[in-house]
Amino acid sequence: MEKIIVNKSLGLKGNIKVDGSKNSILPILAATLLCEEECIIHDIPKLKDVEVMCELLEVIGAQVTKLSEDSLKITTKEIKTSEAPYELISKMRASFLVMGPLLARCGNAKVYMPGGCAIGTRPIDLHLKGFKALGAEVISENGYVHSKAEKLHGSDIYLDFPSVGATENVIMAATLSQGETILENAAEEPEIVDLANFINSMGGNIIGAGTKTIRIKGVKKFHKTEHTVIPDRIEAGTYMVAAAITNGDLVIENVVSSHVQPVIAKLRESGATIEEYEDKIRVKSNGFIKPVDIKTLPYPGFPTDMQAQFMALMSLAEGTSIINETIFENRFMHANELSRMGANVKTEGNTAVLKGKSQLSGAKVKATDLRGGAALILAGLAADGETEITEVYHIKRGYANIIEKLQNVGANIKFVEE
Ligand code: UD1
Repeated sequence: MEKIIVNKSLGLKGNIKVDGSKNSILPILAATLLCEEECIIHDIPKLKDVEVMCELLEVIGAQVTKLSEDSLKITTKEIKTSEAPYELISKMRASFLVMGPLLARCGNAKVYMPGGCAIGTRPIDLHLKGFKALGAEVISENGYVHSKAEKLHGSDIYLDFPSVGATENVIMAATLSQGETILENAAEEPEIVDLANFINSMGGNIIGAGTKTIRIKGVKKFHKTEHTVIPDRIEAGTYMVAAAITNGDLVIENVVSSHVQPVIAKLRESGATIEEYEDKIRVKSNGFIKPVDIKTLPYPGFPTDMQAQFMALMSLAEGTSIINETIFENRFMHANELSRMGANVKTEGNTAVLKGKSQLSGAKVKATDLRGGAALILAGLAADGETEITEVYHIKRGYANIIEKLQNVGANIKFVEE
């Protein structure tokens, strides 16, 4: 069993370079299925989720070639099967994103229905609403979602909630359809813009990505392309909190500061000093943490994927903070683990109340999900004594080289295998 052992490491100092965005590369990998020619992609983070998606692409018919440590060439001359099996879909929810491109390219897709997960039920009704509006017949049977269409046509689609995955899946499905699709109340996340830029670079016609209204004009065919993935704003935000919680001074490199504005604003409110440069951000702590309230919202609101890390920070604030989680119904599992380390946190429904303490203490804890796991590392860096984190595969899904990156700035942290 793999574990992470963290010891108190105050005053982290130095530079940390952020990798390409996990939530960008996953839909972009799915979108390569739209194109018969080669797609070269750079700045791909070394993550388990990326491996799973590449495995799925290969099953479907893609040839995936490694060009360098962080670049891949993907060519899908033909689709061998439009069926995405249980074994792969069940490993990662985001693999459901192959449905849109498969439907667009071959008018047929059979994908195992992703279940709920630790952070909530996570339905796919909005994805399916979009496919149906484009003219697909959608049937759910034996755990699979089967969608088919002779020819997809443009449509006006209103998303009841700006779901990131539904926006991406519907954009991809609409790219090869007849006519124009207008997607209203779309998600505005930077990862949606990156996906649209990628699709446009291979001949797509998408305008408005990054706003609530996205227009997708169907094209006949895609051509080869080369694309660099945007930096991971959640990885950046996590290391920004590492500086704040350890009374440190970190320069986070390869960040688009407009993508992390809510995190910057909340860290400033909590007392940290932030300097923004063209592609880096310096976060300096002045030694004490003021309590701040957080409400997670769709972009450009405060990201749900940074909620757990802020809970770790607020557990050491000088006063009471309230966290309101509005995106997922069950995203406080890390609260229990943080309380094992001494955090004074009470949750009720989608609200958590934290009474900050002057000290946490190391404990045996488990990563309950990806960002919850990151929060435990952050808490462990500030806590007295040793913290032992199990179920670290969650953390590996989303943080490339996290141990090395933190060691390089002075953290006492290591992986151990038992
Ligand atoms: C993506 C991110 C994830 C992030 C989340 C919200 C990826 C790979 N993952 O997940 O890290 O936490 O956005 O920023 O990019 N919903 C429905 N019906 C649907 C789809 C979603 O009700 O058809 C609900 C979900 O249950 C959830 C909310 O909408 O409560 C947000 O989900 P969504 O934006 O779709 O998240 P994901 O795309 O799954």
